[in-house]
Amino acid sequence: MAKEKVIEEIIEVETKEPIVESTNSIEDLPGVGPTTADKLRDNGFDSLMSIAVSSPKEISTITGLSETVSRKIIKVSRDKLDMGFESGADLLKRREKVVKITTGSKSFDEMMAGGIETGCITECFGEFGSSKTQLAHALAVNVQLPVEKGGSNGKVIFIDTEGTFRPERIIQFAKGVGIDPEKALSNIKVARAFNSDHQMLLAEKAEDLMKKEDIKLIIVDSLMGHFRADFSGRGQLADRQQKLNKHMHQLMKLANQYNTSVYVTNQVMSKPDMFFGDPTTAIGGHIVGHNSTFRLYLRKGKKGCRVAKLVDAPNLPDSECMFWIREEGLRDE
Ligand code: GTP
Ligand code: MG
Repeated sequence: MAKEKVIEEIIEVETKEPIVESTNSIEDLPGVGPTTADKLRDNGFDSLMSIAVSSPKEISTITGLSETVSRKIIKVSRDKLDMGFESGADLLKRREKVVKITTGSKSFDEMMAGGIETGCITECFGEFGSSKTQLAHALAVNVQLPVEKGGSNGKVIFIDTEGTFRPERIIQFAKGVGIDPEKALSNIKVARAFNSDHQMLLAEKAEDLMKKEDIKLIIVDSLMGHFRADFSGRGQLADRQQKLNKHMHQLMKLANQYNTSVYVTNQVMSKPDMFFGDPTTAIGGHIVGHNSTFRLYLRKGKKGCRVAKLVDAPNLPDSECMFWIREEGLRDE
């Protein structure tokens, strides 16, 4: 019975003309009737783009359709959107839209060729007290500045997994750059994540907010804390990496689709017997590393300064800079 239904669906999909006309309604996709469309919408898949960048498994789970049918739906979405290849000129145009958000420190910005980029993930790792959370707060304020002052007139989603978001600190930083503190606070949407599933859900729900508000920065502080706690057994590593991969992909999708910057913090491994052993290695393994476009390593330096090291960037050399954390923000000394 169920098998027949699947075959029926496939036939329906196969016989329908895949590209009907250039419209953006998901109802026009083959095999998507009103019920399926509702299910998709309820789960945030309300545009061809959102379906085009999803996986057959995701669509299948949501709609109850087979993976084969789901694959077809995704393919047609992609065809309609003319996805796949972009010319060098298109890519250049996209690069031109990239905004760099100032950290507040000139030398830090110079090292990053302007600041933290939109449209990609920046991972910041370092041991406790190295100022990963401080940088998150600084960016959450600075992104609200106008473009000419190093911002993007943007709003912020702050996924707080450790309860370290401090409104008082936002007020101080806002005053430091001359933004109305109350306005600065109201532009930051904070959600506390209580476990790794909750954290993943918040990243998925972020899109609803992004459709309504001009979010230019998503912060996940910290990325790995819950994943580490929820999958602590050795045998759970594969599960953890799979979920983490999904989470990172979701963040990458949001960064790409909305030209938003994503800033995630990560701890370093402190015990030499853990996984790889290098005490300056970020946790999360290759999943986090490969999904982050920029990787920053922070540590405490001399005379109260902090040292930021750019360890992995697509077009910039590895280099180091010094900065200080002041009441009013990140500064050069
Ligand atoms: P973990 O989350 O524990 O791994 O650390 P982290 O890297 O997030 O460190 P965090 O950003 O919390 O940095 C803490 C450091 O920032 C402290 O050691 C202080 O030097 C500095 N800091 C924190 N709050 C303030 C503040 O209100 N004023 C000033 N001037 N410095 C602060
Ligand atoms: Mg922190």
